This record gives sequence, structure tokens and C-alpha cells, in this order.
Amino acid sequence: MSKKIILSGIQATGKLTLGNYLGAIDNWVKMQEEYDCYYMIANLHSLTVRNNPETLRNNTLKILSMYIAAGLDPEKNTIFIQSQVKEHAELGWILDCYTYMGELSRMTQFKDKSKKHADNINAGLFTYPALMAADILLYKADLVPVGQDQMQHLEITRDIAERFNKLYGETFVIPEGYVRKSSAKIMGLQDPTSKMSKSATNLNDVVFLEDEPEVILKKFKKAVTDSDNKVKFDVENKPGVSNLMQIYSSITGKSMDEIENEFANSGYGEFKTKVAEAVVKKTEPIQKKYKELLANKEYLEKIYTKGAEKARKLASKTLEDVKERIGII
Ligand code: TRP
Repeated sequence: MSKKIILSGIQATGKLTLGNYLGAIDNWVKMQEEYDCYYMIANLHSLTVRNNPETLRNNTLKILSMYIAAGLDPEKNTIFIQSQVKEHAELGWILDCYTYMGELSRMTQFKDKSKKHADNINAGLFTYPALMAADILLYKADLVPVGQDQMQHLEITRDIAERFNKLYGETFVIPEGYVRKSSAKIMGLQDPTSKMSKSATNLNDVVFLEDEPEVILKKFKKAVTDSDNKVKFDVENKPGVSNLMQIYSSITGKSMDEIENEFANSGYGEFKTKVAEAVVKKTEPIQKKYKELLANKEYLEKIYTKGAEKARKLASKTLEDVKERIGII
């Protein structure tokens, strides 16, 4: 039996956060043995907001370095840059023509981003989900590990694929969203009721994977908790403390009960320090490897070139099939 196919990606906008790591990349690492995995850096999606060209180029390589530093093995997985496999842009255009304005208008991410970038509501921002559908459908991915915020895009991908299959016969595999049970949703340290975001305006809200140990410690010390000084998991009434417990649990593998026992006699000060120390212990070796990789442009180029070649093999087959079915010479 052949392995199931997984595809996922992260945009090349901004620095990776502890949330990206614990919520996504760390899970990908756990899946690399069991599945045939394709992990990309979605740099074409990044164009939907304005970027400085040099920053975009650097961010693309930073994310690639972080993927590998965090444990994604380039031998076991296909790691590539979206723009290097031209089939994405081509199928993206084709799928634009099978996606309705009405369904795109309902996307919450489009609405949110339109508010945030009111001076640049471009057509790409609107058709973003059709390109994402192309990313996924080109590889006939069975599973797409994403956060809750991307589930709507996955639903539209399924709708587009089903619509196409109905018109032209079985072409695409209908992908399933995959929110792994153990995967953590990490919230902001200042606002623990919304997801930790790399575009947070309050820098104390977000821990970046490349933050220095002192910075990490400082951010955790400032984390918002409550006045009851008890380490107890209760998302509704104690979102701040529960988020810190979630982070600690993801890193140490300890259960919430175990954590409650461990800190039964400690105040928040001690608890926060322990969480920060666990984060530093986890991120330090990753950062060391990350810096080495980022300095080795030649190695990175080898990795992404090989990744793109491998990805193209599968992507070009699917695209040829699609073109044949719709009458594109
Ligand atoms: N839209 C995703 C995000 O913002 C990134 C992405 C692009 C993606 N293409 C994808 C995720 C394909 C999963 C599959 O996080």
C-alpha cells in the first residue's frame, strides 16, 4: 500500500512564531515517517500584500532554513518553493475560472485582510483560495494539516475539486483537512483569546522562533494571566494560564494534570519562568542549526532545487491531465 499524501505550506511573510512551530511544523516532523509529505513555502501567496523584494527573498530562505532546522528531513520530505513549480500558477489560473465570486466573497480571511490592507485590496487577495486549491490538488493530497483559520479555504478547495470532477470526470482527489488532536493552538501572550500571530502589533504578544533567550524570558514574564495565582487548566475562565500550560505541555509532553501537580505549590512567577526555560531549551538548538543553514546559501539552493524537481514530477502530470480534459493545447 502506498503512503497517503500530505501537503501543507506557510506563507513567506514575516518571521515564524512559536505558534507556527508548535501548531504546525512540529507536527509535520512527526508525520514525515508515516506519510509522503510535500511542504512548500507559499511565496506567491505572499504577493497578495506588499512586500519589500529583498525581504521577501530573505523570508523565503528563512522559512526554508527553519523547516529543516526544526527537523523536517529534506531526504524524507519534498520541500520546495511554490514559485519554482510553475504548475501552481498555471493551475491557479485555471481554477480561478471554476471558482465563483460569491463563494470567494464569503471567505473570512479575505474580509479580514481587506480591512487590514484597505489601500490594497487586490484581485490576488480575492482569488487567494483558488491558488491554494491548486497547491493542494496538484499533488492529489489526501490530507492537509492546517490550523482552524485555514479550514474555510480547505472547504472551498473541496468544492472546486468536486465541481471539476463532476464536469470532467475523476481528476482530483478530494482532500481532507487534518487538525491533529495533539496539535496545539497557541494563543497570544498578551491577548490569550486570539491566535498568536506574526503580524501582532504588540510585540510582547508573540514569541518568534528566533527570539534570543532573554527576550523569550521577558515576554513570558509579561504574559497576561489572572488574579487567582493557581495553575489550573480552564480555557474559558483562565485563558492566559491555560495557554501557558498548552505551550508547556506541547514542549514537555506532560499532561495538564501532571502540570497542575507540578505547580500545585508555585505562584505564576515561578510557573512563567519554567515555561520560558522550556521554550528556550527547545528553541536554542533549532536556532543554532537555523543560523548555520541560513548562512549556507549553496546548500539551501541545492535543497530547494531538488525539492522543486521532485514536486514538478507529480504536479506536471496532474496539470497535463487537467489541460487535456478541458481542451487546452
Ligand atoms: N494559506 C495558508 C496560510 O496562510 C498557506 C498556504 C498556502 C497553504 N497554500 C497552502 C496551507 C496549501 C496548506 C495547503 O497559512
